[in-house]
Amino acid sequence: MALRRRIRWVARHGLIRRMVQRQMRVGDLGARLMMDPTIRQDPFPYYDELRARGRLVSTSVALVSAHHDVCLAVLRSPDFGQMRLRFDQVPGILRLGMKLGGRSVLGPIEPPSMLAVDPPEHTRYRKLVTRAFSARVIAALRPRIEQIAEDLLDEIAPLRADDPVDLVAHYASLLPATVIIEILGAPVAMRRQFLTWGAGAALSLDVGLSYRDFRRCELAITALHRWMLSHFTEIRRAPRDDVLSALVAAHDHGDQLTLDELSSIAMLLLGAGFETTVNLLGNGAVLLMRHPDQLDMLRAQPARWAGAVEEILRYESPVQRTGRLALRDTAVADHPVPAGSFIVLLLGGANHDPAVFTDPDRFDVARPEADQHLAFSSGIHYCIGAALARLEGEIGLQALFRRFPNLALAGSPHRRPTRVLRGYDAIPVRLSSPEPTVHSALTALHSRKQE
Ligand code: HEM
Repeated sequence: MALRRRIRWVARHGLIRRMVQRQMRVGDLGARLMMDPTIRQDPFPYYDELRARGRLVSTSVALVSAHHDVCLAVLRSPDFGQMRLRFDQVPGILRLGMKLGGRSVLGPIEPPSMLAVDPPEHTRYRKLVTRAFSARVIAALRPRIEQIAEDLLDEIAPLRADDPVDLVAHYASLLPATVIIEILGAPVAMRRQFLTWGAGAALSLDVGLSYRDFRRCELAITALHRWMLSHFTEIRRAPRDDVLSALVAAHDHGDQLTLDELSSIAMLLLGAGFETTVNLLGNGAVLLMRHPDQLDMLRAQPARWAGAVEEILRYESPVQRTGRLALRDTAVADHPVPAGSFIVLLLGGANHDPAVFTDPDRFDVARPEADQHLAFSSGIHYCIGAALARLEGEIGLQALFRRFPNLALAGSPHRRPTRVLRGYDAIPVRLSSPEPTVHSALTALHSRKQE
């Protein structure tokens, strides 16, 4: 078991990791953007450097773009699809490794995950779930999401105002987790367990994992998968009027989904439901504590909150990048792209492209063009949960700063170790500071220096 996992790791991550590390040592920007931990802290100057080099830059790892129009064109083009490792196309040694390593777990970026397949499978999966996340259905959840936010704030309110509280553990993770768990009819009492499994599974979005992370990630996905299968049995016993019951019926009666497809969609909805939005809430809270003038503007004009959420998504996108494979010979930005080429799309870089966003490194909640961001991607894989995430962001942040108007950082927020996902895994705050604006401005300055 352990040996097969080790072989799987070598075939899927170990060899790539070595290759990228070697390229990092000779200063290749593509390799550094992919794995360099120093870049992870603040990737934006490196995105600028890459953007200045060209619209589509050939690096040792892949073709890469941080241009908004190029990313948009690739995401919307039928000439590109999802990266799918074709067994017969991998080099012999890797093929042997994949064979010996055995079947991998049902991760979010491996088929049959919706994120990893092209039409017609993608169309079939997506049709089964879109209605549950439509703007109308999500808008009706507003009162319930407000209630969940208020309940969570009630739980931290009795804590001593000057004791540090971790905003991620007590609020930013629990709000989206509770919402998606309720949507899927899963037990809310298990939310901390889901968060632990979700954090493990989220690692799989990155390439070149260390063996330790790969093992943690496989164990988390396996445990979640096992739980999901038992939950399907519960659903069969007592079906409800929700999206998960509909998916189980599509497998059991409609013959529309295999069991792997069913599990994969269910796990993706659950994991994507909180692993991304936690970053929107965390990044947003930190940005607003560090920009008290912007928070003051929102207090004076609450109608600006929806725009502020767009600006947070743009300024510090929770999903920093994605990628696409050329399905046929094609061209992008006057650059010929042969079939089989992989393009890394730096969504976080596209969202700081000065061709679209004036003075892109300025955080401005009143920015008129903020909603041009690609934080939710574009084209056929455009985020299903976008309306839900926006609503949670608006309600969650507004409720937080309404309840604790003097909320202030009590130390440096800690970045999560993921590279595709950008956010914090700990944000120490004080619920009340003695002198709101001066104190929070000083703490913000101090913590930014330390980060
Ligand atoms: C701020 C929060 C969120 C962000 C930034 C985000 C971002 C993204 C992005 C960038 C993609 C497409 C990736 C690509 O094109 O390769 C995506 C797809 C997806 N997201 Fe989200 N997401 C968020 C919240 C959610 C939520 C709350 C759900 C809950 C259901 C969700 C479910 C999905 C699903 C199922 C897909 C796959 C869609 C497909 O492949 O057709 N996301 N998301």
